[in-house]
Amino acid sequence: MRVLEIDHPLVAHKLTVLRRAETRSSVFRLLADELVTLLAYEATRNVAVAPVEIETPVSSMTGTRLTDPKPMVVPILRAGLGMLDGMTRLLPTAEVGFLGMVRNDETLEVTTYANRLPDDLTDRQCFVLDPMLATGHTLIDSVNYLHERGAKDITCVTLLCAPEGLKTLDEAIDPAIDLTVVTAAIDEKLNEKGYIVPGLGDAGDRLFGVV
Ligand code: URA
Repeated sequence: MRVLEIDHPLVAHKLTVLRRAETRSSVFRLLADELVTLLAYEATRNVAVAPVEIETPVSSMTGTRLTDPKPMVVPILRAGLGMLDGMTRLLPTAEVGFLGMVRNDETLEVTTYANRLPDDLTDRQCFVLDPMLATGHTLIDSVNYLHERGAKDITCVTLLCAPEGLKTLDEAIDPAIDLTVVTAAIDEKLNEKGYIVPGLGDAGDRLFGVV
């Protein structure tokens, strides 16, 4: 598993505003969207491309185009939805599938309650969107699910990671799976309630308001 913690002043600035307790949902949504676009730039560094012959107004040349099969973007409901526009802004031709997963706040166990993905993902590059890699269980289930259906390589885009979750993910995932985690920051730790410290609180609540 590769972990890319993006070191960029704009990422650090936007993340700092996201972390502030007083940042309200409307600003949080906007900044999360901008931050994901910056992360998407790095996350798509190995997206599959092929040469293409084109004519410029001046001459012919060999350019580059995205190839088929189209990449698949998979936001994990609910909070991953807040990352979708930021990702598809850079990958407008990607297809989008959804996984609905929920964490039990007592046991921290994850259950899947929705799945809108093709059964066959053979040779697809998949980008999983989940803002908080906390215990790692949601991403373990998602990565295994996509791999079992044939995904070629899987990149998880997160705003924040806990070191404990990264370790759990790394130990749980078959090393043969081509897995990359792209994140704006690796924080200090997980607390006893499963929150990332210092973190930014509950990403879903902050994006969408408390339900
Ligand atoms: N999920 C969140 O939204 N926040 C955390 O800190 C951990 C998991």
